[in-house]
Amino acid sequence: MQHKDFLSIVIVGHVDHGKSTLIGRLLFDTNSLPDGKIESVKKRCEKHGMAFEYANLLDSLREEQEQNITIDTTQIRFRTEKRDYVIIDAPGHKEFLKNMITGAASADAAILMIDAKEGVQEQSRRHGFLLSLLGIKRIIVAVNKMDLVDFDQATFEALEKEYREFLLKFKVTPDLFIPISAKNGFNLATRSTKMKWYQGPTVLEALNAFQPAATEANLPLRFMVQDIYRFDARRIIAGRIESGRLKVGDDLVFWPDRKRSRVKSIELWGSTTAPTEATAGQAVAITLEEQIFVERGQFGSHPQEGPIEGREFQARLFWLQNESIFLDRPYTFRIGTQEVEARIVKIDRILDSSTLEISQQARSEIRRNDVAEVTLRTRRPIAFDNQDRIPTTGRFVLIQGDRIGGGGIIFGAEYPQVQLNGVTSDNLSWSEGEITRESRVQHFGHRGAVIWLTGLSGSGKSTISIALEKTLFQRGVASYILDGDNLRHGLCSDLGFFERDRHENIRRAGETARLMAEAGLVVITALISPFHKDRQKVREICHNAGIPFSEIYINTPLEICEKRDPKNLYKKARAGEIKGFTGIDAPYEVPEKADLEIRTAHLSVDESVMELMGHIQKIISPSNIVSAEAQEPGAGI
Ligand code: ADX
Repeated sequence: MQHKDFLSIVIVGHVDHGKSTLIGRLLFDTNSLPDGKIESVKKRCEKHGMAFEYANLLDSLREEQEQNITIDTTQIRFRTEKRDYVIIDAPGHKEFLKNMITGAASADAAILMIDAKEGVQEQSRRHGFLLSLLGIKRIIVAVNKMDLVDFDQATFEALEKEYREFLLKFKVTPDLFIPISAKNGFNLATRSTKMKWYQGPTVLEALNAFQPAATEANLPLRFMVQDIYRFDARRIIAGRIESGRLKVGDDLVFWPDRKRSRVKSIELWGSTTAPTEATAGQAVAITLEEQIFVERGQFGSHPQEGPIEGREFQARLFWLQNESIFLDRPYTFRIGTQEVEARIVKIDRILDSSTLEISQQARSEIRRNDVAEVTLRTRRPIAFDNQDRIPTTGRFVLIQGDRIGGGGIIFGAEYPQVQLNGVTSDNLSWSEGEITRESRVQHFGHRGAVIWLTGLSGSGKSTISIALEKTLFQRGVASYILDGDNLRHGLCSDLGFFERDRHENIRRAGETARLMAEAGLVVITALISPFHKDRQKVREICHNAGIPFSEIYINTPLEICEKRDPKNLYKKARAGEIKGFTGIDAPYEVPEKADLEIRTAHLSVDESVMELMGHIQKIISPSNIVSAEAQEPGAGI
C-alpha cells in the first residue's frame, strides 16, 4: 500500500516545558532552516541584549507565516534523510483544537512533552486527555530538561511509570518515553553520552520508524454524489471521489439506500477521452448499467468496503459560535453532501479548549470553544465512517441557523458483520436483505413489535386483539393479529392439544410473529399459550432479533370464562367430550412477571384497549432502542 511521503506531527506540551525549544532545535539539527535564518535571529537577539535561544527561531518562523495564513495553524516543515515532516502548530490551544477537531489539520503522530524537573503536573494530565480526544495513536513522550535532574535514570523511570499509569485511564498508550534535553539537542537528532543508560532510539529515529497514514487513494472508495443530470435517456451522476479509486465495471453500492449497480462509463470534465479509472481528489461523472435512483447526499462504495449505517454514534465536537449548542435540540447535521436533522442525546465529557480544563459538572450545553465528546442521533439513518478509517466521511459540521456552528469527527462506531445464528445445518447461511430495520421504522413511522396476549380460552384475547388492531390501524400503526384458532386452520392444522403439540404451536406462532415484526408490523398474538417455558422462548427469539416483545396477561378468572363459554367448549370439557381442555383438565401457568396485566373482570373492552395503547406506544416509538434490559420480563410494569 502506498503511504503519504510525509508524516505530520503535533507537539503537545507547555511552553515552559520546552516545546518551542524542541521545535527550534529539530529544525536546526536537521538543517531545515532557511538560509541565514539562524544568523538573523542571533543578530536580533544581540540587538535586544538577549541570549540566543532555539525557541526564538520558532517565534520568528511563526511571525513570517502569520502574514499569509488562512487557517490559524502554522505548518513547519523539516526533513530527515528518511522523509519530510510537517509540524502542525497553532498559536494557542483553542486554534489548535479547532483545527484538529474540525479536520482542517490532522496529525499522524504526537510528541508529548513533559518537564523532568517538574514531573507530572496538571498540564501534563490535560495534554494526555487532549491526545485521547484527538485520537492520535502514535505517541512519543519526550521527558525534557534531563540536564536539570543530573540525567538521573531513576527520576526518568519514576516519571515514566507515573505518567503511563495516568494515560492508561484515557486509553492512551505511548509508544515510548525518551529522555532528552532539547536545549542541548540531546537524544533529538543525536544520541547523548550523558545518558548511557538509555538504550532506546532518539526522537528522530523514533519518528522515522513510524508509518505515515495511507494516501487517500489507497483508502476504500467513497464517491460523494453531488448532482444527477439527465441527457436523453441517460442519467449521469456527478460527484467527487473523496477517497479510493473507481473503475469502469466496478460494482457500486449507494448509501444509505444500498442501491446497487455497475459503473458503465466515467466522464471527466474537460477531457475528450473517457477514462477507465478515476481516483481520490477527482470530480467525475459516471453512468451506471442499471438505472437506479440515486440522489445528492448519497455516496457510493465498493460492496465489500461499505460504511457504517445508523442513526446514533459518538463524536468529538468543537463548538465555534457564541450561542451554545444544547442537548436534545434539533440542528442541521452535514456529512459530505448528506444533510439531516440531528440532536445531541448525551454529553459524555467537555473540555474548555483554552484552559484545557475538564468540566466537572454535568451540563446540558456546549459553549463556544468547548470540545465535547457526545452521542449524536440523526432523524433518519445516514451512512458514515469512523474518522480514523476514512477522514472525509468521518467528519461533519453542525449548522445553527444558517451558519456553521461547529464541527467534529465520528469515532468508535462498529462496522457491521453478518451474523449467523445457531442453525441445524452447516450448509445454511443467513441472507441479509438490503432494507435496514431503520428504513422500515422510517417507512412505517414506528417499530415492529410482538404483543403477546396469553390467557384462558374465553378470557377475551380475541375480542381485545380485534379492538386493539382496529385502534392501532386508525392511528396509522401497521398491525396484524395472529389468532390461535385461525392459525390452527392453516399453519398449525397438523397440531392437536397434547403438550408437545402446544409447544410446537407456540414455537411456530412465535417465529411467525417475529418475522412479521421484522417486516415492520405490530403483531398481536391471541393464543392460550399455557406454558411459561414456551412464552419465554418466544421472548428470547424476539430478543435475539432485536424485536420488542411484550407479554400481556389477559387475566379472567376461570369461573367467568366458563360462564361466558362463547364456543360452548367448557360445557363439552366438563361433560368429558373434550379431553385435556385448558383450565379444566390441562394446566394454565399464570405469567409471574407479565409486562402488562389486563383484568377483564374490572375493565371494559375499550378500557383494556386504552391501557394497552399506552403500553404499546412507548414500545413502538421510533426512538425506543431495544436493550437487553427492556426485554427482561416485567420491565414494563
Ligand atoms: S394453545 O394452548 O396451543 O395456545 P390455541 O390458542 O392455539 O391453544 O388454541 C386454543 C383454541 O383452541 C381455544 O380457544 C379453543 O377454541 C380451541 N380448543 C380446542 N380444544 C382445546 C383444548 N383442549 N384446550 C384449549 N383450547 C382448545
